[in-house]
Amino acid sequence: MKNALLTSIILILVLVTTGFMVMDKQNRIRKKDLRLSIPAGFPKPVYDRNLNPPTPNGFILGRKLFYDPILSKDSSTSCGSCHQRFAAFAHIDHSLSHGIRSQIGNRNVPAIQNVIWQPHFMWDGGVNHLDVFPIAPITHPKEMDQDLPGLLTKLQASKTYPALFKKAFGDGTVSTERMLKAIAQFTQMLVSVNSKYDRYVAGKESLTGQEMTGLILFRNRCSSCHPEPLFTDYSFRNIGLPPDTAIQDSGRAHITGQATDRMKFKVPSLRNVEMTYPYMHDGRFRNLQQVLEHYGKGNFHGPNVDPDVKLNTGLTRNQRADLVAFLKTLTDTEFLQDRRFAEPAGEIDAGGK
Ligand code: HEC
Ligand code: HEC
Repeated sequence: MKNALLTSIILILVLVTTGFMVMDKQNRIRKKDLRLSIPAGFPKPVYDRNLNPPTPNGFILGRKLFYDPILSKDSSTSCGSCHQRFAAFAHIDHSLSHGIRSQIGNRNVPAIQNVIWQPHFMWDGGVNHLDVFPIAPITHPKEMDQDLPGLLTKLQASKTYPALFKKAFGDGTVSTERMLKAIAQFTQMLVSVNSKYDRYVAGKESLTGQEMTGLILFRNRCSSCHPEPLFTDYSFRNIGLPPDTAIQDSGRAHITGQATDRMKFKVPSLRNVEMTYPYMHDGRFRNLQQVLEHYGKGNFHGPNVDPDVKLNTGLTRNQRADLVAFLKTLTDTEFLQDRRFAEPAGEIDAGGK
């Protein structure tokens, strides 16, 4: 009897310890985990990593902040609740963003990937530096609705954050600047460069006949706006979508005030596009077929339609299928399943309460 009790206690202890060890292993980040290996053919990043070089403790703090609802006013909504890892950090079950107090925003949540190459952010390019980007969602009334001084007070009062800031930055001062730097140490690492397409380019894998036909079509019809290897030129274009009268989103014109920028939106990267549905700035298309029907129909709306988009009129059903087959080669499962970017097990304290 006594022995059985002792055995059970030992067994439980062993299980708990292995549990913690597994969790710890999942969460652990070493210096070598923060090295970027960028294949040949990629341009030089626009983000200067030397100004905010990621360190293991800085990255761990940034990742914790990214997944922690403490960043929102009522501690309900984290960056990660809108940006889901398995969807390349887009949000798949809502066409429009879903924020604090279940409010629906005006735009579809874009993927977060390869941001070190991105000269501007948001569908209209309203923010132009990765480090300051989080201020926009944190303070947005329909996203996290959290004022920055209030957030600092919460982080300073938390049981865990001062120690994590100390580990990351050498002393326990919790400041907005440090918080932003830590989040950017996480987001700058979200690099997707190992899809089947990339392995094809590197000569390590071949494409099927249909994927190859799709790639050639893509190069002729789509790459003036979605050029390889990033599959976007980050320009703002109008692809002739009729505006949604309920949302009244004018796109780039919202930033520049120019009528000629109406309904121009930032060209999104097509990397991992298979996983980032629904599509477009307002999530109006649920699948790639619908996107290609829009391009193929040639029924473009409005005065500023980009001449390049008209190249696509008359895509046949077979051509659309070939294009979809090619687009699926841009899925990078290594990135989508990368344990470094997962929500850390057992660390989130939902606001230290
Ligand atoms: C309520 C949902 C929501 C939350 C919470 C949220 N985001 Fe976003 N995020 C969006 C939407 C919607 C956009 C597009 C905004 C636009 O274009 O106006 C976006 C855009 C972005 C982009 C730019 C991507 C691009 O290609 O332009 C980055 C980077 C980003 N978010 C990071 C974050 C970080 C970091 C946090 C947490 C501090 C966060 N987001 C919290 C919904 C959210
Ligand atoms: C004139 C420039 C241009 C051309 C040519 C073009 N696109 Fe686009 N594409 C865009 C812009 C801009 C958007 C975003 C529009 C919006 O959200 O309102 C977009 C969006 C998309 C999306 C949705 C991605 C997402 O994450 O929401 C897909 C898929 C896509 N394009 C595929 C293609 C394919 C395939 C072709 C060739 C048949 C093509 N595009 C040709 C500019 C272009």
